[in-house]
Amino acid sequence: MSFKRLPKVELHVHIEGAAPPAFIRGLAREKNMDISGIFRPDGGYEFRDFWQFLDVYEAATSTLQTPEDYRRLTLAVLEESAAQGVIYTEMFLSPDFCGGRDVAAWREYLHAIREAAEQAEQSHGIVLRGVVTAIRHFGPDRAREAALCAAETAGDWLVGFGLAGDEKRGRPGDFAYAFDMAREAGLRLTAHAGEWGGPQSVREALRDLRVERIGHGVRAIEDPALVDELAATGVVLEVCPGSNVALGVFPRWAAHPVARLRERGVKVTLSTDDPPFFHTTLSAEYERLADAFGWDEADFTELNTIAAQAAFCDEETRAKILTRLEAPDA
Ligand code: ADE
Ligand code: ZN
Repeated sequence: MSFKRLPKVELHVHIEGAAPPAFIRGLAREKNMDISGIFRPDGGYEFRDFWQFLDVYEAATSTLQTPEDYRRLTLAVLEESAAQGVIYTEMFLSPDFCGGRDVAAWREYLHAIREAAEQAEQSHGIVLRGVVTAIRHFGPDRAREAALCAAETAGDWLVGFGLAGDEKRGRPGDFAYAFDMAREAGLRLTAHAGEWGGPQSVREALRDLRVERIGHGVRAIEDPALVDELAATGVVLEVCPGSNVALGVFPRWAAHPVARLRERGVKVTLSTDDPPFFHTTLSAEYERLADAFGWDEADFTELNTIAAQAAFCDEETRAKILTRLEAPDA
């Protein structure tokens, strides 16, 4: 069954991770860069595991060098998301890649991305909001500089701050200062945890960074007391099942804990993370979940409503999204 027409809310997508390989190849050609080593013979991205994925991600990102490159990328990504039925997206943006954490340069990148977002909203009806993301393996000092970029541009459009990258490097508490800065600027908070780290990593992100959402969080399933705590406190998980299966966090769709977490009362939402890297789209994720767990349109609408309620946008925008979820054809 196709879920393409069902309206969807996506809370966890990395802008560079959503870049189609053909788009990146085109940029490399324009700039005379040789990054052929990151592609498979069939044209897709090539990597063996998560750590090589991070290297390939950064090599692909090296072709994105100007605000104009990000404007074009944003347009391409939103057009594809809208074709998959996505009506609202929160996208991870990194000042590390957009201007090298210089606030003035970051403003220019942000301006270009927002311009593209406005254009996509007018032509495809998709709404975008930004979440600045620090990269964990770049270390706490760079995270602080990323948080300063975020704090300087916080508002109705730049709505959140988060942490991505290699969860095996450092501890959440190392990034507390950056998260405190972002919180004081009024930004809402999320952090990747419980993807490559176990339940303790999720506990530390909640305790030391005081985040209200967790990126992935799926390995909480290893600790029943933590699952109960997530359910009781209403922490929202940004679950990306296809990403987890592609990277080997879980061996198959049927083994993915998203259904068990949901049954235990945890607020789960569904996203794609880095869709072309994992050969997925949000509607493809729904199809795989329907096959694995028997979920239907009513299940997905329930999860999309949870996602809309957990979105970091203003209340007026939230009300509009909820209305579109309730009356898809209106
Ligand atoms: N950056 C892009 N995708 C990621 C993932 N799945 N985990 C951590 N950092 C990421
Ligand atoms: Zn992610």
